[in-house]
Amino acid sequence: MSDLRALFLEGMSRAATFVAVATTDGEAGRFGVTISSLTSVSADGEQPSLLACIHHQSPAAAAILKNRMFCANLLAESQQAVSDLFAGRGGGEAAARFDKAAWSAGAGGQPMIEGATAAFECRLATALLWETHHILIGRVTSIRLSESPAALLYGQRAYRRAVHLPEEG
Ligand SMILES: Cc1cc2nc3c(=O)[nH]c(=O)nc-3n(C[C@H](O)[C@H](O)[C@H](O)COP(=O)(O)O)c2cc1C
Repeated sequence: MSDLRALFLEGMSRAATFVAVATTDGEAGRFGVTISSLTSVSADGEQPSLLACIHHQSPAAAAILKNRMFCANLLAESQQAVSDLFAGRGGGEAAARFDKAAWSAGAGGQPMIEGATAAFECRLATALLWETHHILIGRVTSIRLSESPAALLYGQRAYRRAVHLPEEG
């Protein structure tokens, strides 16, 4: 079993993913956590929708479930420090994270991080607790795009950037 877990972690470390910060604000307070689990679900429903998987012990997950609103901030490749900040690397109070990052409230009052390549403000549509993680599905209500489309990536346990490959053959 532990072999399977180790192989799973190694296998998944090879999937370079983009890095986002899920933020929320409302009656449960203001929280944010770094996630690589952001996934587009559909562009063609009633509204576009996306999902994020957040550990059940993360205060951000509990706050999203109460606030019923969140923002998925897709980080730009210059924002490693923002990723580390919201992953709790470097310690400090969770609430102080918002004093160290530039942000402003979106139309729905959710924290949109300055410089994020894209910020998707969402209303929580449904949530499923699957063992250790909440799978949160949001309907997108507003989107802010920055001038720079290059997203920060994380793969093989390090931050990375996407490079264009020449055609093969
Ligand atoms: C690149 C990266 C991706 C991460 N992705 C996720 C994720 O998808 N879901 C999650 O629950 N935690 C993820 N984490 C871990 C959290 O950011 C965080 O370190 C941990 O949940 C502790 O958060 P807290 O201090 O808010 O409790 C990721 C961390 C990093 C650095």
